[in-house]
Amino acid sequence: MNVLGIETSCDETAAAVVADGRHVLSSVVSSQIAAHAGYGGVVPELAAREHLRNLGPVVAAALRESRLGACDMDAVAVTCRPGLIPALLVGVAYAKGIAAAGSLPLVGIDHFLGHLYSCFLAEPQLLDDSAWYPLVAAVVSGGHTALLTVQADGTTRIVGQTLDDAAGEAFDKGARILNLGYPGGPLIERLARQGDPAGHRFPRALTGCGGKPVRGEDRFNFSFSGLKTALLYAVGTTPPSGQPLHDLAAAYQAAIIDVLVRKTFDAAAHVSARAVLVCGGVACNAALRTAMNERAGEAKVRLVIAPAKYCTDNAVMIAGAGYHYVRTGRCDGMETRVSARLDPAFGVLPFAAGAWVQASGEDSAADAN
Ligand code: KG4
Ligand code: ZN
Repeated sequence: MNVLGIETSCDETAAAVVADGRHVLSSVVSSQIAAHAGYGGVVPELAAREHLRNLGPVVAAALRESRLGACDMDAVAVTCRPGLIPALLVGVAYAKGIAAAGSLPLVGIDHFLGHLYSCFLAEPQLLDDSAWYPLVAAVVSGGHTALLTVQADGTTRIVGQTLDDAAGEAFDKGARILNLGYPGGPLIERLARQGDPAGHRFPRALTGCGGKPVRGEDRFNFSFSGLKTALLYAVGTTPPSGQPLHDLAAAYQAAIIDVLVRKTFDAAAHVSARAVLVCGGVACNAALRTAMNERAGEAKVRLVIAPAKYCTDNAVMIAGAGYHYVRTGRCDGMETRVSARLDPAFGVLPFAAGAWVQASGEDSAADAN
């Protein structure tokens, strides 16, 4: 089954064709970073206008790259939440048009679950082998920082999330304080490479470090806004340059990574996870990837980090996840609505190994009849 995926939730216009949820036939991403650069962040109406301009050419390029035509598509999957409403509306309206023209099933995908699915693209055994479960997944992006548990039958629960800024937001706001530009993650990462993370001591919120006990309900929650304030104080009135800037970037990045790694593996130990998944834009960060790898080695837990090209926003993860919703008949079609918010009632994930096997069994039983 060929699924055309469309993603317009924020500042990337993306389209992809994925066969059977596994085989990536094409992926095209058009970034709007330049259009928003002067504003220090993403302007929703500007994003919508750019999506409107770019989506047609991006979808055409994705079809061309897949060497298939619109008539070869079996379904359309589109990000419908969470995200910027004007931006989401463009993608969903466009997807409805394509689905209506081709009489195709249309499914709205939660962007957050799309990010999660990028790990399933990297490690297809997650689709096939229940022995990898339960999972703990860290979704770390500009919009989200959350820890999920996923059982083999697809039951999914958020066990911790940020109480204020997301990790990517902490990178972006930190970069703004340091006068670096947007998006902040790659810029801070680059500076941090030549810096000394021990050059400054930044706070690690809600970890129990520094003598403050962590309340039970905050055990797996995050908070990054205090870190941002600490950076503001460390900088004073003028952002430094040269080595002091490198050291600040390295220490700031280390504070974010330290908390992400610690909480992810605490949650993994808590639920006796057999695998840890890491995805979302911040998972591009090489220092985070190394730290997660080291910790997974110590904890003897399997680790799957999404490939860097599928960490930041893309439509492969949407088309891939979409396949499983279509396959199990969970499509809203023309009733697909947009929402700015994450819906934490994910229901059963149709791509978890147990859910998949169960549904395949039902499919083959239905075929036999
Ligand atoms: O997943 P994504 O493309 O969009 C959202 O769904 O939010 O993530 C974008 C976020 C931005 O905050 C960006 O600064 C961060 O991911 N990011 C990084 C890196 N590359 C992107 N953060 C740290 N290090 C990176 N190399
Ligand atoms: Zn994203």
